[in-house]
Amino acid sequence: MPDQEILRQLQGKVALVTGASRGIGAAAAKRLAQSGASVVINYHQNRDAAQKVLDKIEDSGGRGMVFQADVTRQDQVASMIEAAREKFSAVDVLVNNAYFPFEVGQLHELSWESLHRAVEHELSAFYNCVQACLPQMAEKKSGKIIVVSTRLAQQPLPRMGAYAAAKSALESMANTMAIELGPLGINVNVVTPAFTLTDASMIMPEAFRERVRETRPLKKHLYPEDVAGAIAFLAGSEANMLTGSQILITGGSHLQL
Ligand SMILES: NC(=O)c1ccc[n+]([C@@H]2O[C@H](COP(=O)([O-])OP(=O)(O)OC[C@H]3O[C@@H](n4cnc5c(N)ncnc54)[C@H](OP(=O)(O)O)[C@@H]3O)[C@@H](O)[C@H]2O)c1
Repeated sequence: MPDQEILRQLQGKVALVTGASRGIGAAAAKRLAQSGASVVINYHQNRDAAQKVLDKIEDSGGRGMVFQADVTRQDQVASMIEAAREKFSAVDVLVNNAYFPFEVGQLHELSWESLHRAVEHELSAFYNCVQACLPQMAEKKSGKIIVVSTRLAQQPLPRMGAYAAAKSALESMANTMAIELGPLGINVNVVTPAFTLTDASMIMPEAFRERVRETRPLKKHLYPEDVAGAIAFLAGSEANMLTGSQILITGGSHLQL
């Protein structure tokens, strides 16, 4: 494929990124727009931040729209998909990325409600987005679904159990869907970042962040753009034969205890 085609391989495609006002979602939205996609920038509370992502995309000659929706709400997700279809066309690439804060604490000390909420947020958001995108992806016999998980799902840390359990269940859903939706021409893959510098992770003290960087083989911080590159790869045609795959974005830390 000529270089220019690789760079613009999402030309004519529509990509929805959930939780795209900040962090990994914002970086993914900008990166997918660079590849030529029209991007739906979903946000929940930060309209100004989402608008800035759109401004940046449009300043670089790209196309997009912002849409406020709580992705844990089926009716709001359905309205967003409909708005995307009206403005552009059916969603070709779904990036399930939104981050839901959870209660930190040892699993046996958490209330059932707290654990249940973490799992419900992750699974309902993914379920709602897939339900809304699926009919049109199935009709076109093509679609790329990319799920943002976390390294903690496979490499647990104490007190992060609610998050790890929710993301493990999310990965399981993604893997099952890879089998179920493959015959419909839809690829489902997972990206698994380790600790990445975003608003969600900046609550950790600087000493912790430095320790994480220092213990990684690559000795560098992970930034949202590092994850966005893997998402763009999975969205593009070079990943057409990847489904049920998982890309670890860890700087090598998964190899260490
Ligand atoms: N940061 C890390 O270290 C790390 C590591 C591994 C995996 N991850 C995963 O990467 C993904 C993104 O995390 P991040 O660190 O980039 O998060 P972030 O910077 O805190 O951003 C969170 C995003 O999610 C949106 N959001 C929150 N609740 C929502 C809802 N109900 N409906 C729609 N959008 C909602 C926020 O929208 P508003 O701002 O508009 O409210 C925001 O755009 C998450 O799935 C997270 O689990 C992160």
